[in-house]
Amino acid sequence: MATDLIQELDALEAAAADEVGGVASGDDLEALRVRLLGRKEGRLTAILRRVGELPADQKPAVGKRANEVKEAVSALLERRESELAGGDGGAHGLDLTLPGRRAWRGGRHPVTRVVDEISEVFRDLGFARARGPEAETEWHNFVALNTPLDHPAAATSDTFYLEPGLLLRSHTSPVQIRTMLEHEPPIRIIAPGVVYRRDPWDPSHAPAFEQIEGLVVDEGVSMVDLKATLGEFARRLFGPDTKTRFRPSYFPFTEPSAEVDVTCPFCEAGCSTCKGTGWLEIMGAGMVDPAVFEAVGIDAERYTGFAFGMGPGRIAMLVYGVPDIRMWYEGDTRFLEQFT
Ligand code: PHE
Repeated sequence: MATDLIQELDALEAAAADEVGGVASGDDLEALRVRLLGRKEGRLTAILRRVGELPADQKPAVGKRANEVKEAVSALLERRESELAGGDGGAHGLDLTLPGRRAWRGGRHPVTRVVDEISEVFRDLGFARARGPEAETEWHNFVALNTPLDHPAAATSDTFYLEPGLLLRSHTSPVQIRTMLEHEPPIRIIAPGVVYRRDPWDPSHAPAFEQIEGLVVDEGVSMVDLKATLGEFARRLFGPDTKTRFRPSYFPFTEPSAEVDVTCPFCEAGCSTCKGTGWLEIMGAGMVDPAVFEAVGIDAERYTGFAFGMGPGRIAMLVYGVPDIRMWYEGDTRFLEQFT
């Protein structure tokens, strides 16, 4: 009878709701699905087989109810499946209650940020940006910079030679040479880049590191321009109260030469960053030596100039309070991502 079959379908739906709720694993749920809806042996199939025995006018009502029950039971099974998947031991091990994974989108390296900040200050002061090759000739790296090849810096123990006469540049100063060979004064450039030295890998040395070179050449350029330019640079980079001081030094390509210090931006009267002195050394500088002008064919009677060179990696150590230069180059994102 049609009513019998419809009652059985109702009973199947009710029983399915109970049984589905009691299932605790994906495997058990699949077994239950087969028992309820399986095409060959399932309970729904068993009921449907008997529809054939009904008079034709009673078949549609039973068929309609059978479809409803099938949909309802399928929905119950599906809901239970996603419940199980959300908890431990779920069929797909997917726990929707877990916190999301934070997307690490990368960021500019802290030393790159300092290079960019310094570049921006000099751009505002009217400096163009120049660049040169990292594989450099001995002549550009040393000879033209008034540095004889028997100078200790030119020794194979200090510099990486690629082949005789060709090396990995040990500073960005050869970009001064290339710029002066290519351009007539007035010249006003900075040149950021990587340089290489056969230094030990220790807290204050790395075999490859960044430098920023600066060069100004024009008629009437004097030490006053050097001091004013670097003083303004320091105020813009470290803050308006920053003072600058020049200590006598020596570089083969500048005369006179100086080490440039700025007042420590972190303290009033001495802290661990400035080691209690109140001053931080940030670069080397000086007036271009006439011998350098001679090497590149610039008239040293007519033109004068100044040059400076600084290490943004060291400046970044000071600014961010990083005690070991190697930390910049180890590529540990847990460290680096703190700066972005
Ligand atoms: N080239 C020097 C160095 O590497 C720095 C410097 C550049 C000094 C320009 C004076 C002028 O130490």
